[in-house]
This record gives sequence, structure tokens and C-alpha cells, in this order.
Amino acid sequence: MATAKPAKRRGTKSAKGWRTAATSDRHELYESSVQSPDEESAFIDRVFRSIRGRTPVTLREDFCGTHFLSGTWVKRRAANRAIGFDLHRPTVAWGQSRRATELTAAQRKRLDIRIGDVCTARSQPVDVIAAFNFSYFLFKKREQLVAYFKHARSQLKRDGVMFLDCYGGHGSFSEQTEERDFDGFTYQWHTERYDPVSGDVLNHIHFVFPDGTKVRKAFTYDWRLWTIPEIRECLDEAGFRRTHVYWEGTDHASGEGDGIFRRTTVGEACAGWIAYIAAEK
Ligand SMILES: C[S@@+](CC[C@H](N)C(=O)[O-])C[C@H]1O[C@@H](n2cnc3c(N)ncnc32)[C@H](O)[C@@H]1O
Repeated sequence: MATAKPAKRRGTKSAKGWRTAATSDRHELYESSVQSPDEESAFIDRVFRSIRGRTPVTLREDFCGTHFLSGTWVKRRAANRAIGFDLHRPTVAWGQSRRATELTAAQRKRLDIRIGDVCTARSQPVDVIAAFNFSYFLFKKREQLVAYFKHARSQLKRDGVMFLDCYGGHGSFSEQTEERDFDGFTYQWHTERYDPVSGDVLNHIHFVFPDGTKVRKAFTYDWRLWTIPEIRECLDEAGFRRTHVYWEGTDHASGEGDGIFRRTTVGEACAGWIAYIAAEK
């Protein structure tokens, strides 16, 4: 059975540095609860090498937000370069000050973050495009999703690969709140509404602290809950030659996902799962 919800990093509550809503920053909480850029960079390397037989160097991060993945990518190897696009200036600015504390001047030179719309933004052809944390679910119409994939494909090198994540499972079709404890706070994934006719889903992330204070609706996502076959069909229609699905293994002690994603042609009908898709140009 795969992981139960869209939170990719595990954690436990600890007494170290007790946080409250007033002393916390929502982007910092987001990065520590839902992002795993080291694991995702390693996954991209492994999959790209297995498909293409070489190591990827250039990565474009669409919907890059605080560009945590891009920052991790340029730290990973001295040759690596990253370019990121996002529309939201304040989020990008937060990321720039955070990444400035983590990256050397030489690493920052290999990082190019721009304000731009991923549907039209142009860049030098890259080895990899990554669009993570389900950001492309904001395209609710098939034509919009196909148009985005077509544009992304046009921005890849001849042997480039696009990486997407997706989530699902029968729990994701119900209106509920799931919780996960992290170091000093609890992350809540709240599905306020799911409409089976349109497939639209309204999700929020809330953060709750040990003293009872909360950051409610720290992030809100008005999405379409796309399924894997729909996404693959849209990628096919956009011209990608082949797509592969990577499913998470199970940690037999906890019964949860083990963080290891392997290529598969068959999934499991569990309550909640996260999967990756790699699309070959
Ligand atoms: C769910 S967040 C994902 C952030 C990050 N990629 C991650 O993995 O957590 C979605 C981001 O997409 C940005 N965004 C939404 N529409 C966009 C568009 N058309 N072009 C570029 N960025 C967009 C938002 O500003 C937001 O920062």
C-alpha cells in the first residue's frame, strides 16, 4: 500500500524549538512538510539515466514557487543548472532570500529564476522539466492541460524528459482532513469539496501548533483531480513519445509508503497514493 496523502516527508512532533502560529512562516512550514527536493533530484537522476543513459544537467522547474528543487539541483553537481518560472512575485522573493542563505555565490550563478507564465515562458532547451506538487492540476480543461504539455515539450532538448507527480486513491475523492505530525507542528490536508461531475477539488493546507494556535488556509488549491490515465492521454496528445509511471513501495513495518518509486504498469487501489510520471520527448 502506498502513502496515505499528499505529504512526501515523514516526521514526528518534538519538543525542540516549539513553534506557534505567530513564530512560524508559512513557506518554511510548506517546504518542511510537503517538499523532498533531495529525494526528487535523486529520483530524476536515476530515471533519466535509465531512460537516456546519461546524466541530466539542465532542469527547468515549472511552477517553481520558492524554487526549493532548483536550489537543490544546483547544489547537487557543479555542472548542474536550473531555471525556474512562477507567476507569484512574493513567493519567488521569499525563495530568493531563503536560497541565498543556502547556496554559494557560484551555485547561485547557475540558478535563474524568472517571473513568467509556464504556458508561454521560453528558455534554452533543457534535459528535464519538473512540475511538482500537482501544480498543473490548476488546468481544469483538457485543452488547457494539453496546451501546457505541448509548450513544455517544446522547451525540452531532443532527448529531454518531463517529470510530473500526481495523487489519488479513494480517500482523495472524499471531503475530509488528514493530518501528519512534523517537528513542532501538525500539517493538515483538507479536502473541502470534491465534485464528481466536474472532477474539481478544493484543497487547503492548514498548520496547527502544540499550543493550539493555527495557520488556517495557509495554502488553497482549486484544482481538477486528474487521474493517471487522463494525464498520460494528454501527454500522448501533446506529442510525448512514451510515458512511464512510478509507484511507491510499502514499508512493511508501518504499512506506509517507503519513499522508493519504481516503474510499474499496475497500481494498487489504496486509500491514498502519490505517483510520478516521466514523459519522454
Ligand atoms: C502548488 S505551488 C507549487 C510550488 C512548488 N513547485 C512545489 O513543488 O511545492 C504552485 C505554484 O504555481 C504558481 N503558478 C500558478 N499558475 C502559474 C503559471 N501559469 N505559471 C507559472 N506559475 C504559476 C503559483 O504562483 C504557485 O507558486
